[in-house]
Amino acid sequence: MKFFIDTANLEQISQAEAMGILDGVTTNPSLMAKEGIKGSKAIEQHYIDICNIVDGDVSAEVLADSYEEIIEEGKGLAALHKQIVVKVPCTANGIRAIKSFTDMGIRTNCTLVFSLGQALLAAKAGATYVSPFVGRLDDVSSNGIELVSRIVNVYRYYGYQTQVLAASIRSVQHIIQCLEVGADVVTSPLSSIMALLDHPLTEKGLAIFNKAAKELA
Ligand code: G3P
Repeated sequence: MKFFIDTANLEQISQAEAMGILDGVTTNPSLMAKEGIKGSKAIEQHYIDICNIVDGDVSAEVLADSYEEIIEEGKGLAALHKQIVVKVPCTANGIRAIKSFTDMGIRTNCTLVFSLGQALLAAKAGATYVSPFVGRLDDVSSNGIELVSRIVNVYRYYGYQTQVLAASIRSVQHIIQCLEVGADVVTSPLSSIMALLDHPLTEKGLAIFNKAAKELA
């Protein structure tokens, strides 16, 4: 399973990259706005900066709504760097644009996916990735992990090549559950990735070993 980090923060991306376990980055308009980036030139440079930190796919989301504008914006994003994957919301215009991008050889990430039906359309359009939002489904008393599992199983049954990129991850448990149901990728905040390391028995065992190491000195 690939690990992406869900942030536009260059410091957090660098920290995750330094651990040697990072396979890519996903961003969205909220995460970009959080970094205080303003204007198209600054946005484009920020994506290039991210691509220069991580050796993997970087999802850059279109801001446009109409088919024509999504195509124009997405082509511009894809031209920034070979690692850029154009992120497109799962709407009628978005699915139509993803199919056009597929025909152009531009890789895409179909985002804001909350149902198996939406995931089916993303795969039919040839999306490189589909992003079911686990946490936001849980937030409304639905079952995000169950959706990931259903998408994985349907894609495998029909042989769709679209990769299941589990997003909106809220906890270590989400990461583990995505691992168990066969998600191709999990994108999560750095805090959830780092929390995978935490176990009280590891800390307790290390304290014992460190004490013994002093006796060996
Ligand atoms: O970036 C897409 C997704 O990961 C957003 O997550 O936490 O805003 O629901 P969140």
